Amino acid sequence: MSESRPRPPRFGEQDRKLSYGSYLKVPELLALQQLLSDPPAHDELLFIVVHQAYELWFKQLLFELTSARDLMMKGDAHQAKHLLERAHSIERVMVAQVPVIESMSPQDFLEFRQHLAPASGFQSVQFREIEFISGIKDERYMERLVLTDAEDERLRARLDGPTLWEGFCALLESRGLHMPGDDEDARRESLLKIARDRRRFAEEFFLSEALLTHDELFALWRQHHVLMVERQIGSKTGTGGSTGAGYLRTTLDKRFFPELWNLRSYL
Ligand code: HEM
Repeated sequence: MSESRPRPPRFGEQDRKLSYGSYLKVPELLALQQLLSDPPAHDELLFIVVHQAYELWFKQLLFELTSARDLMMKGDAHQAKHLLERAHSIERVMVAQVPVIESMSPQDFLEFRQHLAPASGFQSVQFREIEFISGIKDERYMERLVLTDAEDERLRARLDGPTLWEGFCALLESRGLHMPGDDEDARRESLLKIARDRRRFAEEFFLSEALLTHDELFALWRQHHVLMVERQIGSKTGTGGSTGAGYLRTTLDKRFFPELWNLRSYL
């Protein structure tokens, strides 16, 4: 008798309309790691997974930074700070991920490195988008990178669109703190006013600190990346054709918000 009774659904099987795998597209995701080495070099899977994980974090980071900028444009300091803090968490993960790729020995990397040229992290479009929205806009990338039409459109929109700093200045302006685009001294006066009266300007002050933390954590990633590169390839040239670590060292002083760093000297 009990044999004909339909089996009640087990936990996790309810009516089977949506599942973990179908919602998150897990089969599609797991099909995206395609090795070039044949026979497969053991560490190439790690190399691909780590880079893909970074691109996913870049995607989320861009989403949060764009929203934070738009919120600042609308004068919402509280929510903008909340999203910037999420961006910090992502950036800490990005820094913490470096030892995973560092667990690869240079000898094992050499098993497949020759297949990679001329591909390089230098060509990461999302990385340039993050730089652009954060304020480091270098139009030359539009020519130097080989872009699909969709990538070209995305990067151009970042080049033409407002930066986080512009969002911050708009927010301060809306609160009577002048941040004229053509007068750095006047901007410094406003920033000093905020910094010297943190209780009165608590929202503005902690928002500026959140911007600075974004800058600092990104600079930290650059430092960890170059050390990891030196550990992997020493003074060899990069697969993208640069001098390698030598080139990367020239990027270490890049800062998104120089005026927030300079402010320290005036306090
Ligand atoms: C074995 C590991 C790695 C090595 C040896 C390496 C090496 C290099 C080198 C030599 C460059 C300079 C450009 C070139 O000539 O290729 C570069 C740039 C870059 N790499 Fe890596 N990289 C590694 C892992 C990663 C990972 C995991 C990421 C994460 C996405 C990454 C992202 C980038 C980015 C964004 C740039 C451009 C930096 C800039 O122009 O400021 N790299 N990498």
